[in-house]
Amino acid sequence: MKKVGIIGVGAYLPAKVLSNADLEKMVDTSDEWITTRTGIKERRLVGPNEAASDLAIKAAQQALKDARLEAKDLDLIIVASVTPDMQFPSVACILQNGLGAKSAICFDISAACAGFVYAVIIARQFIAMGSCKNALIVGSEVLSSVTDWQDRNTCVLFGDGAGAAVLAPVKSGGIISGYLGSDGSKVGLLFIPGGGSRQPATHQSIDSRQHYLKMEGNELFKLAVKIMSQAAQVALKQAGLECSDVDLVIPHQANIRILMAVAKKLGLPKEKIYLNIEKYGNMSSASTAVALCEAVREGRIKKGNVVLLDAFGAGLVWGACVIKW
Ligand code: ACO
Repeated sequence: MKKVGIIGVGAYLPAKVLSNADLEKMVDTSDEWITTRTGIKERRLVGPNEAASDLAIKAAQQALKDARLEAKDLDLIIVASVTPDMQFPSVACILQNGLGAKSAICFDISAACAGFVYAVIIARQFIAMGSCKNALIVGSEVLSSVTDWQDRNTCVLFGDGAGAAVLAPVKSGGIISGYLGSDGSKVGLLFIPGGGSRQPATHQSIDSRQHYLKMEGNELFKLAVKIMSQAAQVALKQAGLECSDVDLVIPHQANIRILMAVAKKLGLPKEKIYLNIEKYGNMSSASTAVALCEAVREGRIKKGNVVLLDAFGAGLVWGACVIKW
Protein backbone atom coordinates (compact mmCIF):
# COMPACT_ATOMS: atom_id res chain seq x y z
CA MET A 1 0.00 0.00 0.00
CA LYS A 2 1.35 3.40 -0.98
CA LYS A 3 1.67 6.23 1.54
CA VAL A 4 -0.72 9.07 0.67
CA GLY A 5 -0.50 12.72 1.69
CA ILE A 6 -2.07 16.10 1.07
CA ILE A 7 0.27 18.00 -1.28
CA GLY A 8 -1.81 21.14 -1.96
CA VAL A 9 -4.70 23.10 -0.44
CA GLY A 10 -7.03 25.87 -1.63
CA ALA A 11 -10.10 27.80 -0.49
CA TYR A 12 -12.59 30.23 -1.92
CA LEU A 13 -15.06 32.35 0.02
CA PRO A 14 -17.61 34.46 -1.83
CA ALA A 15 -17.20 38.22 -1.36
CA LYS A 16 -20.55 39.10 0.21
CA VAL A 17 -20.43 39.31 4.02
CA LEU A 18 -23.59 38.88 6.12
CA SER A 19 -22.91 40.11 9.66
CA ASN A 20 -24.85 39.43 12.83
CA ALA A 21 -25.98 43.06 12.66
CA ASP A 22 -27.45 42.35 9.21
CA LEU A 23 -29.31 39.33 10.65
CA GLU A 24 -30.73 41.49 13.44
CA LYS A 25 -32.66 43.30 10.69
CA MET A 26 -33.99 40.06 9.20
CA VAL A 27 -35.11 37.96 12.22
CA ASP A 28 -35.65 38.38 15.95
CA THR A 29 -32.05 37.82 17.06
CA SER A 30 -29.04 39.72 18.39
CA ASP A 31 -25.30 39.82 17.85
CA GLU A 32 -24.94 38.99 21.54
CA TRP A 33 -27.09 35.81 21.26
CA ILE A 34 -25.39 34.55 18.11
CA THR A 35 -21.88 35.27 19.37
CA THR A 36 -22.29 33.72 22.81
CA ARG A 37 -24.30 30.66 21.63
CA THR A 38 -22.29 29.87 18.48
CA GLY A 39 -19.08 31.93 18.18
CA ILE A 40 -20.18 33.23 14.77
CA LYS A 41 -19.79 36.94 13.93
CA GLU A 42 -20.31 36.83 10.17
CA ARG A 43 -20.68 34.47 7.22
CA ARG A 44 -20.21 34.67 3.45
CA LEU A 45 -22.97 34.40 0.87
CA VAL A 46 -22.80 33.70 -2.86
CA GLY A 47 -23.72 36.34 -5.40
CA PRO A 48 -26.38 35.93 -8.09
CA ASN A 49 -25.68 33.02 -10.46
CA GLU A 50 -22.93 31.61 -8.20
CA ALA A 51 -23.35 27.87 -7.50
CA ALA A 52 -21.37 25.14 -5.74
CA SER A 53 -19.26 24.36 -8.83
CA ASP A 54 -18.27 28.02 -9.23
CA LEU A 55 -16.87 28.09 -5.70
CA ALA A 56 -15.30 24.65 -6.20
CA ILE A 57 -13.42 25.69 -9.34
CA LYS A 58 -11.76 28.63 -7.61
CA ALA A 59 -10.75 26.55 -4.57
CA ALA A 60 -9.53 23.71 -6.82
CA GLN A 61 -7.37 26.00 -8.97
CA GLN A 62 -5.59 27.21 -5.84
CA ALA A 63 -5.07 23.65 -4.57
CA LEU A 64 -3.62 22.56 -7.93
CA LYS A 65 -1.25 25.55 -7.97
CA ASP A 66 -0.19 24.80 -4.41
CA ALA A 67 0.45 21.16 -5.39
CA ARG A 68 2.36 22.30 -8.51
CA LEU A 69 0.13 20.14 -10.68
CA GLU A 70 -2.03 20.85 -13.71
CA ALA A 71 -5.63 19.78 -14.21
CA LYS A 72 -4.55 17.23 -16.80
CA ASP A 73 -2.52 15.45 -14.09
CA LEU A 74 -5.66 14.59 -12.10
CA ASP A 75 -7.12 11.11 -12.36
CA LEU A 76 -9.76 11.44 -9.63
CA ILE A 77 -12.10 14.28 -8.57
CA ILE A 78 -14.43 13.87 -5.59
CA VAL A 79 -16.75 16.67 -4.52
CA ALA A 80 -18.54 16.57 -1.17
CA SER A 81 -21.67 18.72 -1.21
CA VAL A 82 -25.23 18.76 0.09
CA THR A 83 -26.00 21.79 -2.09
CA PRO A 84 -24.95 20.71 -5.61
CA ASP A 85 -25.68 22.88 -8.67
CA MET A 86 -28.34 20.36 -9.76
CA GLN A 87 -29.62 16.96 -8.64
CA PHE A 88 -27.50 15.58 -11.44
CA PRO A 89 -25.01 15.52 -13.04
CA SER A 90 -22.46 15.74 -10.26
CA VAL A 91 -20.61 18.88 -9.23
CA ALA A 92 -17.45 16.83 -9.82
CA CYS A 93 -18.28 16.48 -13.55
CA ILE A 94 -19.03 20.20 -13.87
CA LEU A 95 -15.77 20.91 -12.07
CA GLN A 96 -13.87 18.51 -14.35
CA ASN A 97 -15.09 20.43 -17.38
CA GLY A 98 -14.32 23.81 -15.82
CA LEU A 99 -10.78 22.76 -14.96
CA GLY A 100 -10.09 20.78 -18.13
CA ALA A 101 -9.22 17.67 -16.11
CA LYS A 102 -10.02 15.31 -18.96
CA SER A 103 -8.44 12.17 -17.46
CA ALA A 104 -10.23 12.25 -14.10
CA ILE A 105 -12.90 9.88 -12.77
CA CYS A 106 -15.52 12.18 -11.21
CA PHE A 107 -18.22 11.70 -8.61
CA ASP A 108 -19.91 13.46 -5.70
CA ILE A 109 -20.45 12.17 -2.19
CA SER A 110 -23.21 13.08 0.23
CA ALA A 111 -21.83 13.03 3.74
CA ALA A 112 -22.99 16.45 4.94
CA CYS A 113 -20.60 18.18 7.33
CA ALA A 114 -18.28 15.16 7.39
CA GLY A 115 -18.06 15.15 3.57
CA PHE A 116 -14.52 16.47 3.31
CA VAL A 117 -13.14 13.90 5.77
CA TYR A 118 -15.05 11.16 3.90
CA ALA A 119 -13.46 12.42 0.66
CA VAL A 120 -9.95 12.38 2.18
CA ILE A 121 -10.38 8.76 3.21
CA ILE A 122 -12.01 7.62 -0.06
CA ALA A 123 -9.33 9.31 -2.20
CA ARG A 124 -6.62 7.85 0.01
CA GLN A 125 -7.96 4.34 -0.68
CA PHE A 126 -7.90 4.88 -4.47
CA ILE A 127 -4.31 6.14 -4.37
CA ALA A 128 -3.04 3.64 -1.81
CA MET A 129 -4.37 0.75 -3.92
CA GLY A 130 -2.61 2.16 -6.99
CA SER A 131 -5.79 2.77 -9.02
CA CYS A 132 -5.21 6.56 -9.07
CA LYS A 133 -2.22 8.84 -8.60
CA ASN A 134 -3.37 12.44 -8.20
CA ALA A 135 -6.76 13.15 -6.61
CA LEU A 136 -8.56 16.45 -6.15
CA ILE A 137 -11.10 16.58 -3.35
CA VAL A 138 -13.40 19.52 -2.71
CA GLY A 139 -16.00 20.47 -0.11
CA SER A 140 -18.26 23.10 -1.69
CA GLU A 141 -21.51 24.43 -0.30
CA VAL A 142 -24.12 27.07 -1.00
CA LEU A 143 -26.04 26.55 2.22
CA SER A 144 -27.73 29.92 1.75
CA SER A 145 -29.80 28.20 -0.98
CA VAL A 146 -31.40 25.81 1.55
CA THR A 147 -31.51 28.15 4.56
CA ASP A 148 -34.89 29.40 5.76
CA TRP A 149 -34.19 33.09 6.19
CA GLN A 150 -37.32 33.40 8.37
CA ASP A 151 -36.14 30.76 10.89
CA ARG A 152 -33.89 32.31 13.52
CA ASN A 153 -33.05 28.86 14.92
CA THR A 154 -31.07 27.98 11.81
CA CYS A 155 -30.43 31.00 9.58
CA VAL A 156 -27.79 32.47 11.89
CA LEU A 157 -25.63 29.34 11.67
CA PHE A 158 -24.72 28.73 8.06
CA GLY A 159 -22.57 30.19 5.29
CA ASP A 160 -21.26 29.51 1.78
CA GLY A 161 -17.74 28.56 0.70
CA ALA A 162 -15.42 25.92 -0.73
CA GLY A 163 -12.16 24.27 0.22
CA ALA A 164 -10.01 21.86 -1.78
CA ALA A 165 -7.03 19.57 -1.39
CA VAL A 166 -4.84 17.52 -3.73
CA LEU A 167 -3.80 14.06 -2.55
CA ALA A 168 -0.91 12.06 -4.01
CA PRO A 169 1.63 9.40 -3.03
CA VAL A 170 4.27 10.68 -0.57
CA LYS A 171 7.57 9.17 0.56
CA SER A 172 6.99 9.60 4.30
CA GLY A 173 4.24 10.61 6.72
CA GLY A 174 0.93 11.44 5.05
CA ILE A 175 -2.46 10.14 6.17
CA ILE A 176 -1.67 7.63 8.89
CA SER A 177 -5.18 6.72 10.01
CA GLY A 178 -8.78 7.20 8.92
CA TYR A 179 -11.98 6.37 10.74
CA LEU A 180 -15.54 6.84 9.42
CA GLY A 181 -18.92 6.11 10.99
CA SER A 182 -22.65 6.56 10.35
CA ASP A 183 -25.95 6.27 12.25
CA GLY A 184 -29.01 6.38 10.01
CA SER A 185 -31.42 6.19 12.95
CA LYS A 186 -30.98 9.95 13.49
CA VAL A 187 -31.95 11.16 10.01
CA GLY A 188 -34.70 13.36 11.48
CA LEU A 189 -32.29 15.59 13.41
CA LEU A 190 -31.07 17.51 10.36
CA PHE A 191 -32.61 17.20 6.92
CA ILE A 192 -34.35 18.89 4.00
CA PRO A 193 -37.74 17.22 3.56
CA GLY A 194 -38.63 18.54 0.10
CA GLY A 195 -37.07 18.36 -3.34
CA GLY A 196 -36.12 14.68 -3.42
CA SER A 197 -38.10 11.65 -4.61
CA ARG A 198 -39.91 11.43 -1.24
CA GLN A 199 -41.45 14.87 -1.63
CA PRO A 200 -40.93 16.38 -5.08
CA ALA A 201 -41.52 20.11 -5.50
CA THR A 202 -45.17 21.16 -5.59
CA HIS A 203 -46.79 24.52 -4.94
CA GLN A 204 -47.83 23.17 -1.56
CA SER A 205 -44.34 21.90 -0.63
CA ILE A 206 -42.87 25.28 -1.47
CA ASP A 207 -45.56 27.23 0.38
CA SER A 208 -45.00 25.08 3.48
CA ARG A 209 -41.20 25.70 3.33
CA GLN A 210 -40.32 22.02 2.86
CA HIS A 211 -37.27 22.85 0.73
CA TYR A 212 -35.40 24.40 3.63
CA LEU A 213 -33.14 22.75 6.15
CA LYS A 214 -34.79 21.55 9.41
CA MET A 215 -32.73 20.97 12.52
CA GLU A 216 -32.96 19.76 16.13
CA GLY A 217 -30.05 21.87 17.38
CA ASN A 218 -30.01 20.80 21.03
CA GLU A 219 -29.88 17.08 20.32
CA LEU A 220 -27.23 17.53 17.62
CA PHE A 221 -25.13 19.60 19.96
CA LYS A 222 -24.88 16.79 22.52
CA LEU A 223 -24.24 14.13 19.88
CA ALA A 224 -21.60 16.27 18.15
CA VAL A 225 -19.60 16.63 21.37
CA LYS A 226 -19.77 12.93 22.16
CA ILE A 227 -19.15 11.60 18.66
CA MET A 228 -16.42 14.04 17.62
CA SER A 229 -14.51 13.21 20.82
CA GLN A 230 -14.88 9.46 20.24
CA ALA A 231 -13.95 9.71 16.55
CA ALA A 232 -10.78 11.62 17.42
CA GLN A 233 -9.82 8.99 19.98
CA VAL A 234 -10.40 6.10 17.55
CA ALA A 235 -8.37 7.75 14.75
CA LEU A 236 -5.53 8.50 17.17
CA LYS A 237 -5.54 4.95 18.51
CA GLN A 238 -5.40 3.57 14.95
CA ALA A 239 -2.39 5.81 14.36
CA GLY A 240 -0.73 4.60 17.56
CA LEU A 241 -0.77 8.13 18.99
CA GLU A 242 -2.05 9.94 22.08
CA CYS A 243 -4.04 13.19 22.21
CA SER A 244 -0.89 14.86 23.51
CA ASP A 245 0.90 14.02 20.23
CA VAL A 246 -1.51 16.22 18.23
CA ASP A 247 -0.13 19.59 17.11
CA LEU A 248 -3.38 20.93 15.65
CA VAL A 249 -6.99 19.75 15.38
CA ILE A 250 -8.88 20.89 12.27
CA PRO A 251 -12.50 20.32 13.29
CA HIS A 252 -15.76 20.86 11.46
CA GLN A 253 -16.78 24.38 12.49
CA ALA A 254 -20.38 24.00 13.71
CA ASN A 255 -20.38 25.82 17.03
CA ILE A 256 -17.53 27.13 19.19
CA ARG A 257 -19.14 25.61 22.29
CA ILE A 258 -19.13 22.16 20.64
CA LEU A 259 -15.43 22.57 19.82
CA MET A 260 -14.45 23.76 23.30
CA ALA A 261 -16.35 20.83 24.83
CA VAL A 262 -14.52 18.40 22.50
CA ALA A 263 -11.17 19.99 23.45
CA LYS A 264 -12.01 19.52 27.12
CA LYS A 265 -12.99 15.87 26.64
CA LEU A 266 -9.74 15.20 24.77
CA GLY A 267 -7.70 17.10 27.34
CA LEU A 268 -6.37 19.48 24.68
CA PRO A 269 -5.68 23.19 25.23
CA LYS A 270 -7.96 25.41 23.14
CA GLU A 271 -4.92 26.76 21.24
CA LYS A 272 -4.65 23.34 19.57
CA ILE A 273 -8.14 23.64 18.08
CA TYR A 274 -8.14 25.62 14.83
CA LEU A 275 -11.06 28.04 14.68
CA ASN A 276 -12.41 30.20 11.88
CA ILE A 277 -16.13 29.86 12.67
CA GLU A 278 -16.23 33.54 13.67
CA LYS A 279 -15.70 34.57 10.01
CA TYR A 280 -17.65 31.92 8.11
CA GLY A 281 -20.19 30.07 10.28
CA ASN A 282 -20.96 26.45 9.47
CA MET A 283 -20.23 25.69 5.79
CA SER A 284 -20.95 21.95 6.09
CA SER A 285 -18.42 19.97 3.97
CA ALA A 286 -16.49 23.16 3.14
CA SER A 287 -15.78 24.02 6.79
CA THR A 288 -13.05 21.46 7.45
CA ALA A 289 -11.55 22.02 3.99
CA VAL A 290 -11.36 25.80 4.36
CA ALA A 291 -10.04 25.51 7.92
CA LEU A 292 -7.26 23.16 6.75
CA CYS A 293 -6.27 25.54 3.97
CA GLU A 294 -6.23 28.59 6.22
CA ALA A 295 -4.26 26.77 8.93
CA VAL A 296 -1.59 25.84 6.35
CA ARG A 297 -1.46 29.38 4.94
CA GLU A 298 -1.19 30.93 8.40
CA GLY A 299 1.78 28.68 9.21
CA ARG A 300 -0.17 26.88 11.95
CA ILE A 301 0.71 23.56 10.27
CA LYS A 302 4.40 22.88 9.63
CA LYS A 303 6.27 19.95 8.15
CA GLY A 304 6.33 17.05 10.60
CA ASN A 305 3.27 18.24 12.55
CA VAL A 306 0.55 15.78 13.57
CA VAL A 307 -2.80 17.11 12.32
CA LEU A 308 -6.18 15.65 13.27
CA LEU A 309 -9.22 16.24 11.04
CA ASP A 310 -12.49 15.65 12.92
CA ALA A 311 -16.01 16.14 11.57
CA PHE A 312 -19.64 15.28 12.30
CA GLY A 313 -22.88 16.01 10.48
CA ALA A 314 -26.34 15.11 9.21
CA GLY A 315 -26.99 11.44 8.63
CA LEU A 316 -25.57 11.06 11.16
CA VAL A 317 -22.09 10.73 9.71
CA TRP A 318 -18.70 11.32 11.22
CA GLY A 319 -15.05 10.89 10.43
CA ALA A 320 -11.59 11.61 11.77
CA CYS A 321 -8.14 11.13 10.33
CA VAL A 322 -4.59 11.72 11.46
CA ILE A 323 -2.09 13.25 9.05
CA LYS A 324 1.65 13.55 9.56
CA TRP A 325 2.28 16.75 7.58
N1 ACO B 1 -31.61 34.47 18.31
C1 ACO B 1 -32.20 34.60 19.50
N2 ACO B 1 -32.79 33.58 20.16
C2 ACO B 1 -32.75 32.37 19.56
C3 ACO B 1 -32.15 32.16 18.31
C4 ACO B 1 -31.57 33.27 17.68
N3 ACO B 1 -30.95 33.18 16.49
N4 ACO B 1 -32.27 30.86 17.98
C5 ACO B 1 -32.92 30.26 18.99
N5 ACO B 1 -33.22 31.17 19.94
C6 ACO B 1 -33.92 30.97 21.19
C7 ACO B 1 -34.79 29.75 21.18
O1 ACO B 1 -36.03 30.03 20.60
C8 ACO B 1 -34.89 29.43 22.65
O2 ACO B 1 -35.84 30.28 23.21
P1 ACO B 1 -36.87 29.71 24.31
O3 ACO B 1 -35.99 29.27 25.45
O4 ACO B 1 -37.73 30.89 24.60
O5 ACO B 1 -37.58 28.57 23.65
C9 ACO B 1 -33.53 29.87 23.20
O6 ACO B 1 -32.96 30.75 22.22
C10 ACO B 1 -32.55 28.73 23.46
O7 ACO B 1 -32.58 27.90 22.35
P2 ACO B 1 -31.71 26.60 22.32
O8 ACO B 1 -32.01 25.85 21.06
O9 ACO B 1 -31.79 25.88 23.61
O10 ACO B 1 -30.24 27.23 22.23
P3 ACO B 1 -28.88 26.47 22.27
O11 ACO B 1 -28.06 27.04 23.34
O12 ACO B 1 -29.02 24.98 22.18
O13 ACO B 1 -28.23 26.92 20.90
C11 ACO B 1 -27.82 26.13 18.69
C12 ACO B 1 -28.85 26.59 19.68
C13 ACO B 1 -26.83 27.25 18.47
C14 ACO B 1 -28.52 25.79 17.39
C15 ACO B 1 -27.07 24.90 19.25
O14 ACO B 1 -27.98 23.96 19.72
C16 ACO B 1 -26.17 24.26 18.23
O15 ACO B 1 -25.23 24.84 17.73
N6 ACO B 1 -26.43 22.97 17.92
C17 ACO B 1 -25.63 22.24 16.98
C18 ACO B 1 -26.34 22.25 15.71
C19 ACO B 1 -25.43 22.28 14.54
O16 ACO B 1 -24.29 22.64 14.61
N7 ACO B 1 -26.00 21.89 13.43
C20 ACO B 1 -25.28 21.97 12.21
C21 ACO B 1 -25.13 20.69 11.53
S1 ACO B 1 -24.59 19.40 12.50
C22 ACO B 1 -23.13 19.81 12.69
O17 ACO B 1 -22.59 20.44 11.82
C23 ACO B 1 -22.46 19.49 13.88
